[in-house]
Amino acid sequence: MCGIIGYCGQKPGAAIVIEALKRLEYRGYDSAGIASLCDGRLLIKKDAGKLEEVVHKQGLAELPGNVTVGHTRWATHGAVTQANAHPHSDCTGRIAVVHNGIIENNQELRRELTGLGHRFTSDTDTEVIAHLLEDELKNGRALEQVVLSIVPRLEGSYAFLAASLDDPGKIVGTRKNNPLVVGIDSPNYYISSDALAFSTYTNKVMTLDDNEVVVLSPGRIEFLDARGSKTVKQVKQLDHSWAENSRGIYPHFMLKEIMEQADVLGQTIQQDQKTFNRIALDILRARQVIITACGSSRYAALVGRYLFSKVGKRFCDVVMASEFGYFADSVDKGTVVVAVSQSGETADVVEGVKAAKAAEAQVISIVNRPNSILADMSDHVIYLNCGPEIAVAATKSFLSQLAIFYLLSYAMVSSFDEAASSLIGLCGETTRVLDWNKSELIRLSETLKDSSDFYYLARGINFAIASEGALKLKEISYIHAEGMPAGELKHGTLALIEPGTPVVVICPADYTFSETLSNAIEAKSRGAYIIGVSDKESDVYDSWIRIPRVEELLYPMVAVVPLQLLAYYLAISRGCDPDKPRNLAKSVTVK
Ligand code: G6P
Repeated sequence: MCGIIGYCGQKPGAAIVIEALKRLEYRGYDSAGIASLCDGRLLIKKDAGKLEEVVHKQGLAELPGNVTVGHTRWATHGAVTQANAHPHSDCTGRIAVVHNGIIENNQELRRELTGLGHRFTSDTDTEVIAHLLEDELKNGRALEQVVLSIVPRLEGSYAFLAASLDDPGKIVGTRKNNPLVVGIDSPNYYISSDALAFSTYTNKVMTLDDNEVVVLSPGRIEFLDARGSKTVKQVKQLDHSWAENSRGIYPHFMLKEIMEQADVLGQTIQQDQKTFNRIALDILRARQVIITACGSSRYAALVGRYLFSKVGKRFCDVVMASEFGYFADSVDKGTVVVAVSQSGETADVVEGVKAAKAAEAQVISIVNRPNSILADMSDHVIYLNCGPEIAVAATKSFLSQLAIFYLLSYAMVSSFDEAASSLIGLCGETTRVLDWNKSELIRLSETLKDSSDFYYLARGINFAIASEGALKLKEISYIHAEGMPAGELKHGTLALIEPGTPVVVICPADYTFSETLSNAIEAKSRGAYIIGVSDKESDVYDSWIRIPRVEELLYPMVAVVPLQLLAYYLAISRGCDPDKPRNLAKSVTVK
């Protein structure tokens, strides 16, 4: 959460930094600000509010200078106020710092610095960095040396950029457990939490290792290790698709991402069969297999668990990444941990994988973003290849994750090709299901927009789709929703069903059909309004969301798509911004 960007070069920095912040907004959007060094002055403008409002209100675009840093915030320490917005400064106003992450020992450092006479103007953890730098910079040292000297004092996770009037003309950046990537277009340099921020200017990137420091000045770039010795870095090329960041004809990124899923599926299938076969063999040979993930990625993992069991006859467990550490005692050399994360930087997943590696487990990651922390830590990486996903709520990446699990499970029985062709056949179905149901989903969103609770039911492999459908709804429309195995309904939740309560029943004509339908009838008898997601019509449904008839194990992929669209239309009917839901961020880089 939080996006940081720095620009150092020959062009006016403010315009570049504002454009970059627009591309980083998915990381947080409650406050924004920029700082620029110009003619012996450090100028900082910032405020609470969405970027567009802050740019307008504070005149961010007017800041002169070509050494500029910017920040878009997702609050962790301190309320959403102007004072807590980044960049932060020291007592003298000569240093600017933008930060992503959490300084866990900030209270101790704040007490110590206050005792030494420092005056704090915000409630953030970040501000301690500026004051620590201030003390050290007084001795006339280079900014990078000062950064190197203070980072051992910081506990927690961070990626931060610093610029100072005492060593002007440069930006110094460093990271620990949070992403930071440099864009090269000499003599112009960019540095950000995500290469997407500067990908319109360059696709040449360099990544920083933990505790490494980078120094950018116009026409010059230098990397230093934690001891201050120079290091040599490789330039990597970023795939062109990662520069794309437009909504096209769609009013929201979420709608675009839902609509493009047929193409995305086609790209996801482009995988190296040999790698899949090797990974599948490792999974089959392992003493135990644990899949770990958060949010939508965890629901994809739950579908993966059924696929591994049904196709590969390989039982595995799915452990929520935030709980993984509590099971670490039973992880060992014979364990394969499959970590699933669109961003590849979710703090809980990264932390879990660290624990797994410490126990010598083999780590396989399924990620989307290139150059991610998780990918760097893994023994094998499978990429989703679904391009940048900008809307906070996952849609196309979820479908890609399902496709990867499908391919992987069939690779366990040496049938990768067969699985790939089934998925090719499915591409058109994901579009068809949207065409069939669009008007009914719009009608439902108008009829049900004032409902306070939704319940989603399904059995077997589709149970996780019920949970994912409910999660989508909660995330973007703020309606309470719960997904559960249909058989569990009568063990408590049935008490909450009242006349008119919407109950979405995922009821494909497969081995779960009759039992799921019975559960729907139980809810209907208590007055529930039944929305049946099925390829088979029934008069139990008050509304029928028709899905195509597909192979049993592919139903999750066609059932989830209309549920994404239902959540989208409900958010719109309720006047919510589906791309930027309140309190949420796409990359959760704090524990
Ligand atoms: C956040 C996002 C979710 C996402 C989850 C896991 O909560 O808002 O959309 O599913 O993080 O993210 P990851 O990048 O690890 O898949």
